[in-house]
Amino acid sequence: MNARPTIAVLNGPNLALLGRREPHLYGTATLADIERSCRRTADGPGFDIDFRQTNHEGTLVDQIHELRDSAVGFVINAAAYTHTSVALHDALATVTAPIVEVHLTNVHAREAFRHRSFVAPVAKAVIAGCGPEGYTFAVRHLIALATDTEETAP
Ligand code: DQA
Repeated sequence: MNARPTIAVLNGPNLALLGRREPHLYGTATLADIERSCRRTADGPGFDIDFRQTNHEGTLVDQIHELRDSAVGFVINAAAYTHTSVALHDALATVTAPIVEVHLTNVHAREAFRHRSFVAPVAKAVIAGCGPEGYTFAVRHLIALATDTEETAP
């Protein structure tokens, strides 16, 4: 029986190519490396990671529906869908667990079309520009919230 609480880490389109995709922007760590760091961060405190990647908007919505009642927190890098998807926004708005939006790059220092996020209005926190470490920061924050070990002022 597995009674450990689960943190969902959802990844959107093109992130499977990390390590080979525009490394001057996204670095050389692969998505598998990021998954390992998330698991390492969560394991000690007793949390499981449900780590997923999809290139399809509807699949991302389906994954949120599937996990919305069971995950104690969500880390989401929706990649390009961040900037375009009302469906993603609406799916995340149904989630009561805290959501942390993560981007490897500082989207606000990039093209104007990356400045708008449909995820941010339903996120508790946004981390952008910390590279792969952003994911582990997000996991640590969600663990702290779930175990109530830190100040949780809005
Ligand atoms: C990204 C930023 C997005 O604008 C872009 O479409 C991505 C990756 C990031 O992690 O920096 O695919 O979400």
